[in-house]
Amino acid sequence: MISKSFWHGKSVLVTGGSSGIGRAIGLAAVASGSRVGIIARKRPPLEATLADLRARGAIAEAIACDVADAEGLRAAVTMLEERLGSCDVAIACAGIHRTSWPLDAAIAGEVIDVNAKGCINLAAAVLPGMLARRRGSLCGVASIAAVVGLPGNAAYCASKAAVVAFLESLRLDCQPAGVDITTACPGVVDTPMVTDAERAAGRLITAAAAATLILRGIERGRAEIWFPRRTALAARLARSLPATIRDWVLRRQPRMAESSDRG
Ligand SMILES: NC(=O)c1ccc[n+]([C@@H]2O[C@H](COP(=O)([O-])OP(=O)(O)OC[C@H]3O[C@@H](n4cnc5c(N)ncnc54)[C@H](OP(=O)(O)O)[C@@H]3O)[C@@H](O)[C@H]2O)c1
Repeated sequence: MISKSFWHGKSVLVTGGSSGIGRAIGLAAVASGSRVGIIARKRPPLEATLADLRARGAIAEAIACDVADAEGLRAAVTMLEERLGSCDVAIACAGIHRTSWPLDAAIAGEVIDVNAKGCINLAAAVLPGMLARRRGSLCGVASIAAVVGLPGNAAYCASKAAVVAFLESLRLDCQPAGVDITTACPGVVDTPMVTDAERAAGRLITAAAAATLILRGIERGRAEIWFPRRTALAARLARSLPATIRDWVLRRQPRMAESSDRG
């Protein structure tokens, strides 16, 4: 459960709010009385999610925008703030997965642009207002894949490691000014980003459960949210191994979706 007294009346912006974890975050926030603005590129899923949010009696808005476009995202945030009020909580959830092997510089660049620059662009759009008001929360959805490089996932892992390091530094700058910065690192969550092979491989966290964990972490001002704990621990243990042993272990892991071009 999340705290209604924290979320009620708050203006919450979510990139990637039309699908998966971002959509579940929007639904959970409106259920607790937040006004929610969602951002994603494709209009049909964006409009379908907006209709779902409004069907719950919520004040909600949606704007189609590519998070890799810094100016476009800044304009989208300004428009949403005009309609919903100054942003209290911003969540950078937009993301894509593309296979990195064989390596293609353009595809790898797209992953970095959306996953890493998308988070930076949202931070740049919301932080000036939050810092001026001396309150607010920014959360970036990274991944447990940020901890170790996984085969076939060079760009994805690099993009998520960038988000972790970016937010870690930003926290040092923002917290003294009253703005909380939270990094969420999920394991495998059941969303359209996950392949059937991953779905078959084990018990997945639902998007609704992931959303609850992320929102609860934000309301408590947590620096980092890792789940499930066992997967996070395994990744950290792998990180602590000498590189040659770590490589041997990781080469034997099932690839995170061989042919996956998702999101
Ligand atoms: N599912 C997992 O197992 C898992 C695990 C760890 C971390 N994550 C992270 O969690 C976040 C959400 O993933 P998900 O599983 O919920 O995926 P999803 O269901 O595929 O949703 C991705 C969302 O991001 C939006 N998006 C993608 N590219 C965008 C762009 N350039 N500009 C604006 N919006 C964009 C998508 O809408 P459009 O395509 O219409 O733009 C969609 O709303 C991602 O950052 C992902 O890396 C997921």
